Amino acid sequence: MKRRDFLLGGLGVTAGIATVTSGSFAMGQMMSGGNDAYRPPLSLQDYALPALDEGTSIQGKQVFKLTLQAGESQLLPGLSTETIGINQNFLAPVLRFKKDQTVRMEVSNRLNETAALHWHGMILPATQDGGPHQAIKSGDDWVAEWKVINEPATYFYHSHTHNHTGEQVWRGLAGQMQIIDEDRDAELGIPHQYGVDDYPVIITDRAFDKSGALYYSNTRMQKMQGMQGNVILVNGVADSVLKPKKSLVRLRLHNASNARFYDLHFSDNRPFQLVATDGGMLEQPQTLNRIRLTPAERADIIVDLSDGKPVSLQNRKGYGNLNTGMMSNGALDTNFDIFHIEPSQAEKVPAFTTAQLIRLPNWFNAQGFNVDIATTRHLQLDMQMGPAMMFGSGGFFINEKAYELNTINEVAKANTYEVWELRNPSITHHPIHIHNTQFRIIDRNGRIPSAAESGLKDTVIVHSEETVRVLLPTGPYKDADNPYMYHCHIIEHEDAGMMGQFTVT
Ligand code: C2O
Ligand code: CU
Ligand code: CU
Repeated sequence: MKRRDFLLGGLGVTAGIATVTSGSFAMGQMMSGGNDAYRPPLSLQDYALPALDEGTSIQGKQVFKLTLQAGESQLLPGLSTETIGINQNFLAPVLRFKKDQTVRMEVSNRLNETAALHWHGMILPATQDGGPHQAIKSGDDWVAEWKVINEPATYFYHSHTHNHTGEQVWRGLAGQMQIIDEDRDAELGIPHQYGVDDYPVIITDRAFDKSGALYYSNTRMQKMQGMQGNVILVNGVADSVLKPKKSLVRLRLHNASNARFYDLHFSDNRPFQLVATDGGMLEQPQTLNRIRLTPAERADIIVDLSDGKPVSLQNRKGYGNLNTGMMSNGALDTNFDIFHIEPSQAEKVPAFTTAQLIRLPNWFNAQGFNVDIATTRHLQLDMQMGPAMMFGSGGFFINEKAYELNTINEVAKANTYEVWELRNPSITHHPIHIHNTQFRIIDRNGRIPSAAESGLKDTVIVHSEETVRVLLPTGPYKDADNPYMYHCHIIEHEDAGMMGQFTVT
């Protein structure tokens, strides 16, 4: 099998900047700066199917036992790497459960550090959310329990520890959750057998030093582009080959990277069908041959492999997190392979031809809103450029305020609908995530988004110089004291202060 090399460029992580004079400071140096990141020779490995955990049914609840642990992992050939994970040394099992079940997550922190574990995308009481207010001290246990009211789709769980989310996710505290509805999938002809025709594709990038240790830098310079690495992992394994059991597969594409944006396509440019995004199915499958995923976004696609030909999922350069109109992401922004598929042994099954999937909530249409809007909020994403950002106290804000653990920035009313207008005058793109809701995108700079973005979402990219409006239900849970977060999902931006919190009362 012919395959491409890994990222060709170096990592822009070691720039030494002596002087700063203007808003567009020394960007070239930062992006293409020194390269001491180790890029090992890699060889093809088998696709790693994550352990599947469906919980245990105890007194009407699905109970999951999740232990945060540290250990050694073999991420690079011949080298061992210190990592952390959940029930394993790096990353986590896929948790599968169903709508209307009550899930009970029994989390034990066996790390030597405080952690928090957040259920990204879930609509649930604030005390169960697993944000920075639900910190679990080393050695302690924490239980989160909620009734699943989200729609079937692919979700995310990950560290959300105050000031340490980026570094803990990087070291491995992240996994995928799936809310499944096998009957509906069967009716619609959507592949849904885990590890048979339904495969998680959890994409992360990592950087290493020569000893094999994970390299993480959180300097002020690093924060701007977020932490990116030059080794791409799928489910924790570099350069892997999936040998699917069926010729029609669902890939649950999931960008679990701290900061890297992906513009994905197949090496032969074959079309695929997008059936679901963050929080549920689309109304109709969308036939595409590329899809962009910014950090925390998920996309379920159906790929027809009945021609038996090997194919690679690849990233196309040009979609870094910086406004490329002004500068390029340099060495970090290249074409590279994500992973490979070899379907030669797959059992042939009929093509996917379903035309209608579900009905989306009819909150608005081209004529206007069909629900009452309780409030319109204006959130401006700010990056303070120049010396203040690099040497001052922060530089990442929402509405000119950096995140503070004890400040409630917004108060919403339960069981209402709101419009959030996300305005990004800064020079980088920010994927904005709002907890405890699944929203729909109204428009981008006044224009209706593409059909691929028409479904339920919990994370939306707000490009530089863009204003994105979303319509969100505030959900049924009231709690005047415990907030939910909203933030940029470039985790280094989040940790640096581009986060706020809201209560629902
Ligand atoms: Cu994916 Cu506030 O998190
Ligand atoms: Cu979240
Ligand atoms: Cu950001």
